[in-house]
Amino acid sequence: MKKFNLITFLFLPILTTSCYQQGSVAQESIIEHNEPHRPQYHFTPAANWMNDPNGMVYLDGEYHLFYQYYPDSTIWGPMHWGHAISTDLVHWEHLPVAIEPDSLGYIFSGSAVIDHDNTSGLGTKENPAMVAIYTYHDPVGEKEKRIDFQTQGIAYSTDKGRTWIKYAGNPVLKNPGIKDFRDPKVSWLKGGDGLGKWVMSLAVLDRISFYSSPNLLEWTLESSFNPDWAAYGGVWECPDLFQLKAADGTEKWILFVSINPGGPNGGSATQYFIGDFDGKNFIADHDDVKWLDYGADNYAGVTWSNVPEQDGRKLFIGWMSNWDYAQVVPTHPWRSATTLPRSLELVKSGDDYKVASRPVSELQSLRKFTKEISGESVNLEEELVELELTPTAGTDFEIELLNEKGEKVIFKKSGDGLVFDRTASGLVDFEARFAKVHTAPLNGIEVKSLRIFVDRSSVEIFVNDGEIVMSELVFPTEAYTKLKLTGFENSGSIHNLMSIW
Ligand code: FRU
Repeated sequence: MKKFNLITFLFLPILTTSCYQQGSVAQESIIEHNEPHRPQYHFTPAANWMNDPNGMVYLDGEYHLFYQYYPDSTIWGPMHWGHAISTDLVHWEHLPVAIEPDSLGYIFSGSAVIDHDNTSGLGTKENPAMVAIYTYHDPVGEKEKRIDFQTQGIAYSTDKGRTWIKYAGNPVLKNPGIKDFRDPKVSWLKGGDGLGKWVMSLAVLDRISFYSSPNLLEWTLESSFNPDWAAYGGVWECPDLFQLKAADGTEKWILFVSINPGGPNGGSATQYFIGDFDGKNFIADHDDVKWLDYGADNYAGVTWSNVPEQDGRKLFIGWMSNWDYAQVVPTHPWRSATTLPRSLELVKSGDDYKVASRPVSELQSLRKFTKEISGESVNLEEELVELELTPTAGTDFEIELLNEKGEKVIFKKSGDGLVFDRTASGLVDFEARFAKVHTAPLNGIEVKSLRIFVDRSSVEIFVNDGEIVMSELVFPTEAYTKLKLTGFENSGSIHNLMSIW
């Protein structure tokens, strides 16, 4: 018995390491990201289940993307943080799983920061720690029907996110007795006095609570935000709090809150608030509900931290799916993609401000060749395209994307609204809530320009440089090869795009 234990003790680490390496090698070499419906220029895990993007942080030339990941199945399960990096936000390299569940629970969504001043003492000033702040979801507590099974924990890395150490004092924020208590998004708030503090936005059932900390390890509740006019169709999740500056110099605080269900077109969606934050309270400037994306497939998105000041952009990525059907979409051996990375801008829209989402400029590097569109019927030739279109002023328009089988996507302007119809787009009957017509109100906005990105299983539409956005999944059984246009005198151009894999 003793001998057996000793052998296990000596060989288990080797066995685990080699299995693990074999596992990741297999993912890389067998799966070439070329299966039916596999997105060609969106991030997907090589295999298995993904949901929310997590812990996005920039460091030393690398954009880190962590994500909710279950490495053993294509449906949701015990959550890990998967990991990928990119130097240009377009091409991604898969790295091994970063953070695994432990005795405190599964690793739910959260954020990552670089602790430049070593406030936590987990790194040094010369080599500051990358610190991940995430939710522990304890499945045992949940099974026992306790209400305090979600807590906040931290892990840190001093080698650019390659290896992670869990903080010995976890959890750093205990549960006060509220079942839904999750998704910490942390950022450094500079103080007027030259000092500063960490601020955490946390989704607490139907409100966002703000906590502050001098060192990431001890947290104090500052306030909670839940105005009675907000959208409460479902639980509040995945907040983000950050500043944006408009072209006219106006600076505002923005608060993102994902809700599920209760989105404008059913299921999951992200509402946002524009207002002010004084380090303690968030106060909105308005009393109407604002949606980041009117498509059905942009959820739980948040922004990158530590993007260099010279760059100055607020970079965003979302989960391109919807809890209404995410676990049954017809893809194998992976499930879910991220949206295109976007830069968030504060823009004037009528008398109001709005958060516009623009595809990052780096995506232009995917353009292989460009063709002017002439006429109302166009052959697409290849399946990966970006369309730039200018509708004729003052009229309605219609765009149809079709394949030889008659499967089609229709996007049109009808009166004061936009309509996205995927009822006949290909495979649609895997879940009753998928085959739907989605709408976005225009509220008098004139559609001046359209940018439409078509990948193997998605269509993302950016109206007026991201003033209105619709991100949508589609599963055609063969590529859309034709484009039919009505209401476009000046037509536009088609860019054929390259695959990133
Ligand atoms: C949002 C969410 C989060 C949670 C995670 C679990 O999609 O429900 O609130 O942390 O997914 O995977």
